[in-house]
Amino acid sequence: MIRTLISASALAVGLVAAFAQSDPIAQRKELMTLNGKGFYGDINRMVRGQAPYDQAKVNAAFDQIISSAKTFPTLFPDNAKPGAKTSAPPEDKYSASSKVWENKADFEAKNANLIQVVTSVRGNVKDLDSLKVAADQVGKACDACHETYRLRAN
Ligand code: HEC
Repeated sequence: MIRTLISASALAVGLVAAFAQSDPIAQRKELMTLNGKGFYGDINRMVRGQAPYDQAKVNAAFDQIISSAKTFPTLFPDNAKPGAKTSAPPEDKYSASSKVWENKADFEAKNANLIQVVTSVRGNVKDLDSLKVAADQVGKACDACHETYRLRAN
C-alpha cells in the first residue's frame, strides 16, 4: 500500500516535470495568466471600486504571485525561445522577447524584485487604502519586467 502510494506520487511528480520540460511556453503563459486574474482582475477591480474589498482574495492573489514567480524564471530554456513550438493556444497578444535570453541576470533580478515587493507588502494590506498603496508598488514591479521582456503584438 505504502509502496503504491509512493510510486503513484513519484509518477505524478514525473508527469509534472515532463510537462514543464515539454512545453515551458504553455506553462509560463499559464502562470502569467494566473497573475493577470489575481492582480489585473481581483485586486485592480477592488482598487477601482468595481468589487468589494475581500481580504481572502487579496491574500490568495499575493500568495499565487509569489509562488508563480518562484517557478517562472525556470521556464525559459534554450528550446523555448521566440518561435519555438508550443501547445499554448495560438498567441493573440503577448510573447516573450528574445531579450530574456540575452539578459538572463537582469530578467531574473526583475523577477526577484517582484517576489521581494509582494512579500514585503503582503502582511501590511488590511483595507482598501493599504491595498491601493501596495497595488501601486506591485504593478510597478510587473511593468518593470514587461516593458523590456514582454512583447505585445500590434
Ligand atoms: C520577470 C519578468 C516578469 C514579471 C515580474 C511579470 N511578468 Fe508578466 N509576463 C512576462 C513575460 C516574459 C510574459 C510573456 C510570456 C510568454 O508569452 O511566453 C508575460 C506575460 C504576462 C501576461 C499575458 C499572459 C498571456 O500570454 O496571455 C499577463 C496577464 C501578465 N504577464 C501579468 C503579470 C502580472 C500581473 C505581473 C505582476 C504581478 C507580472 N506579469 C509580472 C514577464 C514578467
